[in-house]
Amino acid sequence: MKLIINKVRLGKRSYPIIIGKNILPVAAKRIKELKLGTDAIIITNSFLRKKYGHNLVKNLKANNLTVKEFIVPDTEKAKSFIQINKILTSISEYDKDKRLFVIALGGGVVGDLSGFIASVYRRGIPYLQIPTTLLAQIDSSIGGKTAINLTAGKNLIGAFYQPRLVICDIEVLKSLKKRDIVSGLGEAIKYAVIKDKTFFNYLEKNVHKLLACKDDTLITVVDKCSMIKAEIISKDEKEENSIRTVLNFGHTIGHAIESASSYDKFRHGEAIGLGMLCACELSKELKLLKETELNEIEKLIKKAGLPVKIKGIPLNKIIDAHYHDKKFIGKTNRFVLTCGIGKTIIRNNIPLKLIKKVIKKRLF
Ligand code: GLY
Repeated sequence: MKLIINKVRLGKRSYPIIIGKNILPVAAKRIKELKLGTDAIIITNSFLRKKYGHNLVKNLKANNLTVKEFIVPDTEKAKSFIQINKILTSISEYDKDKRLFVIALGGGVVGDLSGFIASVYRRGIPYLQIPTTLLAQIDSSIGGKTAINLTAGKNLIGAFYQPRLVICDIEVLKSLKKRDIVSGLGEAIKYAVIKDKTFFNYLEKNVHKLLACKDDTLITVVDKCSMIKAEIISKDEKEENSIRTVLNFGHTIGHAIESASSYDKFRHGEAIGLGMLCACELSKELKLLKETELNEIEKLIKKAGLPVKIKGIPLNKIIDAHYHDKKFIGKTNRFVLTCGIGKTIIRNNIPLKLIKKVIKKRLF
């Protein structure tokens, strides 16, 4: 199967996203070729360590790299100051005559945490991403936003710090639970709605193949989504001129749903699916989106197995949580809306009454 290489273009900080099947066994060779350092720090969780970490360590060592591993919990709790302190202290004790670089082997939690560690240790050491979930392969491993959480909110502490390489092996997606594939699909549908009607049509036709983890479909989806994200990041790395803002489609209410449910009721992509539906309803209310297109989007979300109703969360909790959205400028809200599949429009000052109306419609 052919190898696909997409690229985030940021001058000297450009990096490739390598996509293929069964490419993990040759990752060590590629990593060595990049000359990032001589001593690898792998951050992963215990399941992935057993499944892929052992071989990766073996292959890195066979390429004359030394390896130190850190195992972190597989939950948002790992993105904490306590964890950061533990890992950084241990790295500093280990760091004698080393040329360190970090490998994030895992999903979004591991990626965010590893990127943050790499960004602050000695004011920055190189890191690379080996994402192991669909969501991480198409979204969180690309773009350089690294973060840890505060009690006051998710991802409140962080930095823009780009990886040097992203390796997406679609074979690893086959050991995921179906719910995690479905969650990834939430973000895939987002890319289609914000940027590409043809890709939307592709998803409509092939969603069942994706759910069955068919190689060609997985490759196409990871390729297409990572390409869209790479192009956006290349144009607006730090969200300075609204180009990158469109990636937040569905995220204002989606994040509020996640936060109002203490992050344990919905997977990220599920909440984003619900957030997209609310954003589409808002777009329809504001006469930007035709009802037929809203129905088409809802149909695909349903077909993907994503929820279309918000069960068991009171409206006021979601509204309270939505005020903490990072897109708020002072008291002014900011929504990414759609004016047709493949197109977006950013609107400020959406009346609270309207926001409540569209969320209420989804409550169950
Ligand atoms: N690391 C995820 C992003 O930058 O969007």
